[in-house]
Amino acid sequence: MAQIEMISPAAFRTTRAELKSARHLPGYVYTSPEILEIEKDRIFLRDWLCLGRVEEIPKPGDYMALRIMDEPILIVRNANGMLNAFSNVCRHRGVEVAPLGQGNAREFLCPYHSWAYDLDGRLFGAPLMRDSSADLSDCRLPRLHLVDWRGWIFATFDPDPPPFTDVIADFDAEFGFLQPENCVLVDKTILDLECNWKFVCENLMDIYHIGTVHGRSFGSRYKGDRERYQFNYFSHGGYSFFFDAAPMTADGKTKFGKMPWLAERPESFACLGFHGPNLNISARCDTVRHWTSWPLAPGRTRLISYTLVLRGVPERQSFHEDLKDYINQLTIAIDEDREMVQSLQNGVRSRRFVPGPLARLEGPIHHIMNNYLDSLLGESERIAPAKAKV
Ligand code: FES
Ligand SMILES: [Fe+2]
Repeated sequence: MAQIEMISPAAFRTTRAELKSARHLPGYVYTSPEILEIEKDRIFLRDWLCLGRVEEIPKPGDYMALRIMDEPILIVRNANGMLNAFSNVCRHRGVEVAPLGQGNAREFLCPYHSWAYDLDGRLFGAPLMRDSSADLSDCRLPRLHLVDWRGWIFATFDPDPPPFTDVIADFDAEFGFLQPENCVLVDKTILDLECNWKFVCENLMDIYHIGTVHGRSFGSRYKGDRERYQFNYFSHGGYSFFFDAAPMTADGKTKFGKMPWLAERPESFACLGFHGPNLNISARCDTVRHWTSWPLAPGRTRLISYTLVLRGVPERQSFHEDLKDYINQLTIAIDEDREMVQSLQNGVRSRRFVPGPLARLEGPIHHIMNNYLDSLLGESERIAPAKAKV
């Protein structure tokens, strides 16, 4: 199919319909390399992206070198304790200056010809360049905009991005009360899944599958009448959903203890949400979990799960055992989901696949798909966000 037809408004007419008569997205949106290139340009290289937690690089000189959509990034804490993000691309020939992964450095020495950069990305040494007429006095690694939102590091490739405070406003209004800035990262799990990144995001907001896939694990702890679940949608492609479900432990009782700011809420407090393009949130009374889903290829995704607990909890004597219990529950849930998302990828590759209708419980998926289409199709095709509760 020609690229122009693949992303024409007509191709998505049924997904654009109201929820009760809408259909899921066509299969090629999940399998096409051309679509992934368009997503890179129109979504991932434009939007603010959540790249990690501040406590992953707590000390001056701590850094994280990542690749996002084939773009090398370096996030560094400088000598004054400030966080900065740069393209990890040497100004000489482009070699990645810092090695992939995390570490601590006093400076970054490019491994190819030894150009040296300080923690603020400034070039301070370039050997054997005296004969060159190039002015390297103000040479530095290209800078990315970066903000710290409640302990989460967000950055963007957009050189002239919309104000972050505007972009995060709805998400902050809905989830700021969880106070992630007063929590600490205790687990970061990285998984590579054989499916498209959108299947991963959609699965993490899919309440419809909970009874079937997780009926014998954490799904049995979801309380209330699922026919009556209420979702709240916001304009920058996000949603929130508050409900009752027991903590993620073998016996359903909290091991880490309730966060003090949730004291008025029941132990069964639970919520889910999303912030575009790829951040899912899931919280209980004792944990806040973020997930980011990164495309590696049309049919391959890196899922990163971050679990936060109240500061001080990791110092408790039983913490190690309690965390093991929590991670076990998480692993069971992930394994149950893994088969489904990978099977989705196989299914949509079939020439016989025709996108099916959506259940009312798939309202968040419908909302997110339509916001995704807004980004894919551009401003002219932007539809009014569904503000009303469904
Ligand atoms: S590529 Fe970095 S010094 Fe040559
Ligand atoms: Fe699931």
